[in-house]
Amino acid sequence: MNCIDLIRKKRNGEKLSRKEINYLISAYTKGTIPDYQFSAFLMAVFFQGMDFEETTDLMLAMMYSGKTLDLSDIKIAKIDKHSTGGVGDKVSLILAPLIASCGVCVPMISGRGLGHTGGTLDKLESIPGFKTNLSVKQFKCQLKKIGVAMIGQSAEIAPADKKMYALRDVTATVDSIPLIAASIMSKKLAEDLDGLVLDIKFGSGAFIKDYKNAKYLAQTMIEINKRSGVNVIAILTDMNNPLGSYVGNSLEIIETIEALKGRGPKDLMEITFALGKAMLKLAKIKGGKNLLEKKIVSGEALNKFKEIICCQGGDIRIVKDYSRLPVAKNRIKVIAQKTGYIYHIDTFDIGMLLVQLGGGRLKKEDKIDPSYGFKINKKIGDYVKKGECLVEIISNNKTKAKTVVKQMHDVFAIHKTPCRRKKLIRETIWR
Ligand code: URA
Repeated sequence: MNCIDLIRKKRNGEKLSRKEINYLISAYTKGTIPDYQFSAFLMAVFFQGMDFEETTDLMLAMMYSGKTLDLSDIKIAKIDKHSTGGVGDKVSLILAPLIASCGVCVPMISGRGLGHTGGTLDKLESIPGFKTNLSVKQFKCQLKKIGVAMIGQSAEIAPADKKMYALRDVTATVDSIPLIAASIMSKKLAEDLDGLVLDIKFGSGAFIKDYKNAKYLAQTMIEINKRSGVNVIAILTDMNNPLGSYVGNSLEIIETIEALKGRGPKDLMEITFALGKAMLKLAKIKGGKNLLEKKIVSGEALNKFKEIICCQGGDIRIVKDYSRLPVAKNRIKVIAQKTGYIYHIDTFDIGMLLVQLGGGRLKKEDKIDPSYGFKINKKIGDYVKKGECLVEIISNNKTKAKTVVKQMHDVFAIHKTPCRRKKLIRETIWR
């Protein structure tokens, strides 16, 4: 088979066969198709799309590019959650220990920061010593020991997604429904799950901005999962605001710990509880939100987080002493230029400004500074007085921070008339 012919075929809007998709994914994973050719293929998919059959074949080829787990010797329900990506979205970090503390096994395979969105792995790695590159053997061993482990795609599990994810990030091919659906489901179905909860985000801070397309993404993921026997619940959630009060890797770890101590912000906890309830439902565990709240109040959820940190080599002292996390000392305020109501926030731009600051990646080889980020003081619908602080820029690079301050002003649209805050949770779709 010839890669150029297949790129041309997709570019011309033709359907690829299973054999052709298998060839492309296997050759790219092995390194026999170079990045520049595969980028062209991704762009062809971006413009021409894929039907459900092609997307299923793509997902399966990506899943079988590595090992799939056999967790049949773990007898409790195995449930995971995945988000399509947002800004300030640290829900996975809270849910993994919280749900595990309810007696559910959570084998979580996550991603790195992609485009304007942050990544669970980057956030975890801001904890000194924390390792996300466990071998399959270590991953299974930890699941048996404490019921939860958090790792990334690796040379062993979904290696095709690891390579493709990084390439998509730097070739403007992230926001494609078949590519997102196959990327997420290839990792998740490799985990040998009983159930999966999907947080499908729409709005200015999501990859898929409009609700109708986000719903189509949810339907695609449910459709390509049909043959797997895994029960899926997809929840469509609003990403027009950054989630919670902090954006940035180590800052989001602090906010996660605060949430596990019972001090999480309202919006973050609303999404956490909605997704958590769905995970418990799939695990057939009764109690819903009450049970989740109890596990937080009793300290069991926080203890489980400490167990994860300990097992994965991190410094457990960060839970009590946040000064052990890398947090930049310098803060610059972004001040409102007029009085009124926040009626729009360009949440995508907030994510990109973090990349510009150095807290996210522009190229796949880029190193990020986990200590940089933003404290978000105002959300859509809030009243703000001229001179009040909208956002704090937390960064030691004063020159870059000053440029970001200027651009951050354009992110907030302030109007005289009050505007209503939209519902955070829009719709739940079952398999
Ligand atoms: N999360 C993923 O794992 N993959 C995507 O393509 C987007 C978000």
